[in-house]
Amino acid sequence: MVEDTVMARSQERDDGNVLARETAERLSAKILLGGTLRPAETSETFDVIHPGDLSVIGRAPRCGKADVDAVVENAQQAFIQWRDVPARERGRMVQLAADQIELEKDLVARVLSLDTGNALRTQSRPETASTIDLTRMFGGLAGELKGETVPSASSDVLQYSVREPIGVVGGIIPWNAPLFLFVAKVAPALAAGNTVVIKTAEQAPMCVLLVAEIMNRVLPPGVLNVISGYGEECGKPLCEHPLVRKITFTGSMPVGCAIAGYAAPKLCPVTLELGGKNPAIILPDADVELAVPGIVDGMRYTRQGQACTAATRVFVHERLYDRVIEGVVAKLAELKLGDPLNDETDIGCIISEEQFNRTLHYMEIARSTPGARVLYGGERPTDPYLGKGYFYPPTLLDGIPLTSHICQDEIFGPVATVLPFTDFDAMIRDANDTPYGLAANLWTRDLARAMEFVDRIEAGFVQVNQCVAPRSNVSYGGLKMSGLGKEYALDSMLNHFTQSKTVLINRGSPAATL
Ligand code: NAI
Ligand code: MG
Repeated sequence: MVEDTVMARSQERDDGNVLARETAERLSAKILLGGTLRPAETSETFDVIHPGDLSVIGRAPRCGKADVDAVVENAQQAFIQWRDVPARERGRMVQLAADQIELEKDLVARVLSLDTGNALRTQSRPETASTIDLTRMFGGLAGELKGETVPSASSDVLQYSVREPIGVVGGIIPWNAPLFLFVAKVAPALAAGNTVVIKTAEQAPMCVLLVAEIMNRVLPPGVLNVISGYGEECGKPLCEHPLVRKITFTGSMPVGCAIAGYAAPKLCPVTLELGGKNPAIILPDADVELAVPGIVDGMRYTRQGQACTAATRVFVHERLYDRVIEGVVAKLAELKLGDPLNDETDIGCIISEEQFNRTLHYMEIARSTPGARVLYGGERPTDPYLGKGYFYPPTLLDGIPLTSHICQDEIFGPVATVLPFTDFDAMIRDANDTPYGLAANLWTRDLARAMEFVDRIEAGFVQVNQCVAPRSNVSYGGLKMSGLGKEYALDSMLNHFTQSKTVLINRGSPAATL
């Protein structure tokens, strides 16, 4: 009986994985334009690889300016009708789109794991759930697209503001949480009455195309469009297109700066989310039982460290240093590295050869740093299956100077560093000493210290005694070089996807104009 259930589960899993591969094949060489999947203008494609076993799961069109022009012009046509659909009706359609994703959530999660190598149970299923939740939330907020009335000196004059959609939004997304970041742009933009063209990341285009196709079952044709291609060839012309009136981007800091440059000549508003080098801090009075699992979660090891909020610089007070390290190492040893599409796996694999080599590069720096220690991980797995794909164990270092590239750069791999401290002020200075300012978390029972930390830390997303991932309805965005603007909550829709118009109406009284 038990065996029958196990067999049935493994059959279900195999069938699910076969369907996911067939789906990636079906979506191959397609873009989404005018509500339908179709071939691009260009016949050139690039391979999409599953980083677990390096198999080719499909091909994506290598779009350039011709495709950008065609898709943006189409989205502009769709905008003319979409902007006049009553706001709550638009929101209702966005919510119906969320319902459609929910119907396909197992398939969506599997294609997400195929694309990215992220583990199904710990990453892809939760990301799919958050994708549905965020889409639904923004659909429900469409009725909040309100303006303000401004007190007037005369009852003959009405002064108010309205929020209007901006037009065609160009969105460029990365590969690390592709679905959540896709709907973080698409759902508020559509609810606010804009139409959207998204360029997927070249490493993970299939899951996004699938979700966009599913959403298009209920959205009017042309309001949501998806193209694929490389940054310079496809992303840049999308940003520069004169009909694109708003740009929203998540990715690396240098590319974010380049995008601000493309936007400048047409004074196009940009929202940028550009990563971080986030500190986690354990004060001497912290509850270690709470802090240890908390900072392991905070390092986002179960996404191979490929998260902008990953807390990769762990400042631990000297008094707790050995205890914390011992606890963290024990936790890391419990995590199972394995086939991303197997529900038993905790940690999948790094997305691509480029990112894998990036991790190896920083590990070479660690090995050549005098005094550096590898406290856990640091070697590629020897298992033959894991040796083929881009698998790397969760890795913990110490003895790395703060000035090292390991402590300054966003590694975006499963590597974190522990740093001992004794003095609170010096620690705050060190924690702030990077160009980034995205996230930070602190572990303490001392409320006064916690409040002081919140006040002095240069980060847009601060947590005390927890380090959870960003979520729906909680405004999220970076300070300093971590970006511009906020996402995931009402202010994202209002401030980033609408423009406001101030109106003064005189009912015709000559006295009131004086
Ligand atoms: P990237 O910033 O190059 O790519 C992100 C997106 O931007 C992709 O869709 C890419 O095609 C597009 N892009 C690249 N160059 C462009 C250009 N000149 N114009 C317009 N679009 C362009 O990031 P990449 O190369 O995938 O990863 C490199 C590093 O970036 C990572 O190691 C990590 O440190 C950081 N990163 C940060 C992310 C975050 O969530 N904040 C997400 C992805 C990467
Ligand atoms: Mg790049």
